[in-house]
Amino acid sequence: MNEETRGRLTRDGIRIYEPGDYAGMHAAGKLAAQLLDEAAEHVWPGQTTAAIDDYIRARIEEEGATSATIGYKGYQHATCISVNHVVCHGIPGPKTLKDGDILNIDITVIVDGWYGDTSRMYVAGKLSRKAERLIQVTHDSLMVGIETVKPGNTFGDIGHAIQAYVESQRMSVVRDFCGHGLGRVFHAPPNVLHYGRAGTGPVLEEGMFFTIEPMVNLGRPETKVLADDWTAVTRDKSLSAQFEHSVGVTSDGADIFTLSPAGRFHPTYD
Ligand code: MF3
Ligand code: CO
Ligand code: CO
Repeated sequence: MNEETRGRLTRDGIRIYEPGDYAGMHAAGKLAAQLLDEAAEHVWPGQTTAAIDDYIRARIEEEGATSATIGYKGYQHATCISVNHVVCHGIPGPKTLKDGDILNIDITVIVDGWYGDTSRMYVAGKLSRKAERLIQVTHDSLMVGIETVKPGNTFGDIGHAIQAYVESQRMSVVRDFCGHGLGRVFHAPPNVLHYGRAGTGPVLEEGMFFTIEPMVNLGRPETKVLADDWTAVTRDKSLSAQFEHSVGVTSDGADIFTLSPAGRFHPTYD
């Protein structure tokens, strides 16, 4: 069965997958999360982001999987690596990481046609107190969003929960990028906003697969995209962080497809 006929579509054009489809998402999500675990061993001051990307590219190939980002809208890398004030879609390159740099590594793999999309934060060398706080608040905001996932709640409930939590910590939520449906495709309806009003937006149903991937800034929320047409940065140059999980809606909550096999950045915060 191909992606056009699998399951059904809601009135909002959101695909409802079938019970047997969760296993494929778990396999893809697990590989993406395992590669993020491995990436931690490749982050240090003096390392280039291109070297981290080379490692991930080789590992995806070794696992017999496919990178979803290589060739996507002309993108040529197996990861996005977003350092310090880069919000998302940072392009791996020859620049070396400095002591205290924080970075997001975002990996999307395809396993047997299913997409696993996840990202986490890392530090090169010593983590500053303010970066540590930003990273913790960003991860907590993702988990607050995931805790809102259950049938009957709305996508607006997810965005509202994330925004309320982040703003209570005196940080800001990026508006210019959002999460997305995924499954047999990389980006599908709906747009999963990380801000919004409770009770608005499509109603969550069992069988929906999507990402939640809040970007949080220490300063103002505005971003701009650099001349390379990919790299998004904070306009005020403030530090930015992001975490991303791929999840499925179950009968009573969320099934997180991209949990770390090694238990890193687990919901229990170990
Ligand atoms: N993985 C990103 C996301 O979370 C998308 C990256 S697209 C790329 O949706 F082309 F920049 F890699
Ligand atoms: Co995504
Ligand atoms: Co991603």
